[in-house]
Amino acid sequence: MKILENLKSITVKSNLKISSAIKKITQHECGVLLVINKKKIYGYLQEGDIKKALLKKNFKLNSSIEKIINKKPFTIKSNLSLEQKIQKLKNSARLRAPLINEHDHIVGLLYFPNFEKLFEGQILTFNKSLNKKRILLVGGGGYIGSLLVRLLLKSNYYVIVYDLFKFGLKSLNDVRKNKNLKIIKGDASEIKKLLSISFGIDAIIDLSGIVGDPASEINPTKTIVENYFNSKNLAEVAKMFKIERYVYISSCSVYGFAKGQKKINEKSKTNPLSLYAECKLNSEKAIFELADKNFNPTILRLATVFGYSPRQRFDLVINIFTYLAAKGHKIKVFGGDQYRPNVHVYDVANAIKLCLESPIKKVRNQIFNVGDNKLNLKIIDLAKIVSKLNKKSKVVIDSSLVDKRDYHVDFSKIKKVLKFETKYNISQGSKELYQKIKNNKFKNLKKINFSNFNVEIKNLYD
Ligand SMILES: NC(=O)c1ccc[n+]([C@@H]2O[C@H](COP(=O)([O-])OP(=O)(O)OC[C@H]3O[C@@H](n4cnc5c(N)ncnc54)[C@H](O)[C@@H]3O)[C@@H](O)[C@H]2O)c1
Repeated sequence: MKILENLKSITVKSNLKISSAIKKITQHECGVLLVINKKKIYGYLQEGDIKKALLKKNFKLNSSIEKIINKKPFTIKSNLSLEQKIQKLKNSARLRAPLINEHDHIVGLLYFPNFEKLFEGQILTFNKSLNKKRILLVGGGGYIGSLLVRLLLKSNYYVIVYDLFKFGLKSLNDVRKNKNLKIIKGDASEIKKLLSISFGIDAIIDLSGIVGDPASEINPTKTIVENYFNSKNLAEVAKMFKIERYVYISSCSVYGFAKGQKKINEKSKTNPLSLYAECKLNSEKAIFELADKNFNPTILRLATVFGYSPRQRFDLVINIFTYLAAKGHKIKVFGGDQYRPNVHVYDVANAIKLCLESPIKKVRNQIFNVGDNKLNLKIIDLAKIVSKLNKKSKVVIDSSLVDKRDYHVDFSKIKKVLKFETKYNISQGSKELYQKIKNNKFKNLKKINFSNFNVEIKNLYD
């Protein structure tokens, strides 16, 4: 229980816009704003009042708080003893109350800090970074997320990572003490937690779920929950709080096998060939169905990602080839004639950041393929490029087993509309990862954490 005597930080004017009130209220742990007129309370606005208003159909973020402030709040006399004050507050089943002197002047606020016990002692509904944009990364501890966290911190954002940390917390080790980063362990299925975290956020990026075809086949029910229902629910939360930017990370695998089609663009027919791709496509549809004038989702369909990240994956085609090259092993390709679009993990992080920073009219309700036309290559050619890293590593073709996924994707839209340019080509990205392996960056390359499939298998039996 605390008493706030200097009320300046929570005092506002009655013509304050609701959108600004949301920002302001989440910057203090007491969870209330006051409008004071001649030392008396004119209006009292609690976080809960805003949340209730947000649920109303005709609610407008740019209307003033005048309409939703409580002009007759419950108060407690300031001359009572501390025990009596606390008792009064508890009897009224409230978390906070203004303290009023004999002239009805407000002299303080008695409150329980807005402290969510379910977050294991972390206070997270407020922060003091007044001028920073707050970005919530669900799945921010993963391969793409852990790199994106660093990019956003460098670019002066306040970042909240919400993640189950299936692959451990190590990926955020060197940034975890950064004062602009909040790390919360949790499951994307926990709506109550998500509702607490998302209030006052400027943007949400959904990177969570079971990633990749093999890992998604292990337990289909779990995959459908994590890759479809969780995505849909998170978007519902964002819509309810009228969070302006929402980026859902999808995959070019929604296009599936498209032989004969020259180049697939965002308008092309989709043809998901796996449960993973099916869930991605269904999530995209569910998210777009929620779109309205305050909820403007953007879908990014990523090419297959490659390169080094603080949470490394060695289950992605170029990364596997790079690992084999570093070990001097043969690089075996199945078929090899299939086209596959590729993009470096840093470029993906950059594309996501671009979505946050581009004018909303360019990204609202849009799908963008993320990659580069120059990086659409046949698997055999990827193998040849990577094999150049080590003379001992030869490319071998196995025609008995052919991966059916084959797509040649057009990445012109993101280039044209958002001026997106990739920085890494295959040889640069694989060389960087190769050197990390050679410099013993990874102590044990056989560790199951490097493979999403192996981690899901482990979770199945744990
Ligand atoms: N890597 C690629 O080649 C690629 C390609 C296309 C699309 N994508 C998409 O990009 C996103 C990120 O992929 P990635 O390669 O970083 O994968 P990743 O597996 O490294 O990251 C996923 C993160 O989500 C977390 N997570 C999983 N389930 C969760 C849950 N229920 N609640 C909270 N957190 C949960 C994991 O702990 C992990 O940190 C995914 O949506 C993926 O489908 C990736």
